[in-house]
Formats: sequence, structure tokens, C-alpha cells
Amino acid sequence: MKKEALHCIDVQQFNHNFLEEICDLADKIREISRTKAGMEYLASILNHKRAMLYFVQPSTRTFLSFYSACQMLGIKCAEVRDPKTSSEIKGESEEDTVRTFSLYFDLIIMRHPRANFAEKIANLLNDTDHPVPVINAGSGKDQHPTQALLDIYTLRRSFLHRGGIAGKQIAFVGDLRRGRTARSLALLLTQFQGVKLYFVAPSEYQMGQDILSFLDHQKTAYEITDDFEKVIPAVDAIYMTRLQDEWDREEGISVDIDIERFSFQKRHLDLLKADGIIMHPLPRRQEIAVEVDSDPRAAYWRQVRNGMYIRVALIAGIFQRDKKILDYYLANT
Ligand code: CP
Repeated sequence: MKKEALHCIDVQQFNHNFLEEICDLADKIREISRTKAGMEYLASILNHKRAMLYFVQPSTRTFLSFYSACQMLGIKCAEVRDPKTSSEIKGESEEDTVRTFSLYFDLIIMRHPRANFAEKIANLLNDTDHPVPVINAGSGKDQHPTQALLDIYTLRRSFLHRGGIAGKQIAFVGDLRRGRTARSLALLLTQFQGVKLYFVAPSEYQMGQDILSFLDHQKTAYEITDDFEKVIPAVDAIYMTRLQDEWDREEGISVDIDIERFSFQKRHLDLLKADGIIMHPLPRRQEIAVEVDSDPRAAYWRQVRNGMYIRVALIAGIFQRDKKILDYYLANT
């Protein structure tokens, strides 16, 4: 039988049960990691594995949280962040480059400017006699599945005592057409009953028709608007995003928009529900005023931390160590 690795490529592969289970596991990993003995246990379970972090697009959080997640599980890491330092500079294809990684490493975590490149690599490796798991850490303007996982984890923790994510109203604000984090999270929220999404953006940067068609198909309610101040009091969570202008050159456009209209200012705190939350995948520019950071409803720094635990849970699951961790949790906490 053909041996295939467990990959993490896009959010369509996650169902509701998986989301509940991975969030539960991340909570338990968080709890276990509070003690030295717990950290030592976690660091023992995959200390025979090695991971390659192939990040040929810039990253702070995703790279470092995967690096930290691997460290927590005892996995040894290597990295290529600039293709000019690899034999790609001599004309080797990206496909051959990643195939080479698969012969040294047990896991490939990759961020790449091309949509579908992670999927292509996963399929390519599945056809070799040494397939290793591939995790998509952000692909072009298309998908960022592990960011969507950490966003779901953050929403779940935030609404733990408010009936969970089901039935909540969530606004996405900013450059939604080119924002892979907003696109991935919108897709994943279709797994929750009764949610309503608001897409708040200038028309040039509104959410893509492919995502809207999927929401229609899943019967997930949504509204399209450019009136941010009207939406703020109506929603339980606001997902801010920055202008993704790194794509302007490739698209040959540069739209002059009034960013201020799509930014969260200190005065907006008065409009937000007392138990509403403000999220942002980060990095931010001016979309959220720094004065907002000290408000308890600002959830974006909590998101950053949550990203590490959910990625530990994801990697543990890929290597089928999830049950082992749950057993340790039951016996030791
Ligand atoms: N949220 C996110 O993907 O951040 P980085 O680009 O810093 O990894």
C-alpha cells in the first residue's frame, strides 16, 4: 500500500470534531507546560524527529511559534529563510529543493508566496518512497490554515463562558481580498452553527467571490459593507487586518484608500460590546491604535501566544502523539 504522510494544507480538511479536539489538546499542553516536569515530558516525546522550516516569505510569529512548538516537543529544527542561501541560486527548482529536505527531515513546515505550492509539494512527496508531512505556514494570497486554527482557538477561549463560537457575529475588516488569514478563518467559521460574518472593506479589497460562494453553499450568513462604525456594536469579535500592499507590484495596482476608515481607534472601544473582542493576525501598522492594547478586549497578543500551543497540538497530532499527551495529562494534573 502507498504510504502517505499526514499533511496540513488547507482549512477545508478540518471538520468541527477536529477543531474541538485540537483546541482541547492545546489547552492540556498549555496546562502540562506550566511545570518543569511537564516541559521535560513534552520535550521527550518527539526528540528523535527533525524539522525543516522553509520560509521564503517574511514571518515573525508563524516562524517563531513553529520553532518554539518544535522545541517544546523536542524536535530539532533547521531553517532556510532566504533561497539565495540554498542551491536554488544555482538554478535548482523549488520542487527539488524541498524533495531534498524530505530526505534529511521528518517534517517540512513551509511558507511560500505561491498559492497551492504546499499542496503541490505534499502530492509530490506522497509519490516518493520517503513522504514526510508538510505543513502550510502561509501560501500566497490564498490560505494560512494554522493561523485559522489559532484564531478558532482564541475565539473558543474568549467565548468559553458565552456558549462558544456558535451563533456569534464576527466582523472582518481591511484588505480581505488578499488577506489569507481572513480568507482561511472565514472558511473555517462555516463549521459553527448560526455564525454571521460581516466583511468590512473598500470595494477594491472586499472578500473574494470564491469565499462568498463557499459561505452560500454552507448557508453561513454574511453581510458586505464599508461602514465600520455601524458594524462595531453589532458584533462579538472584530478581526482587523492590514493592507497587504506587498502584492501591489505583482498585481500592477496601488489603490489610494482612506485606511483611517478601516482602523480601530481608541474611541471605538465605547462602541464595542463589553464582552466583545478585537483580534488581529499581526503584524499591524495603523489598523489598531496602540492605546487599544491595554483594553482587556484586545485579544491579539493572546492570539500570538495561542499560536504556539495550537501548533504544538497540531504537530503532536501529525505524529500521533495526541493520545499519549492526553494520558499524561490525566495521570499528572
Ligand atoms: N500572523 C502571521 O502570519 O504573522 P507572521 O507573518 O509574522 O508570521
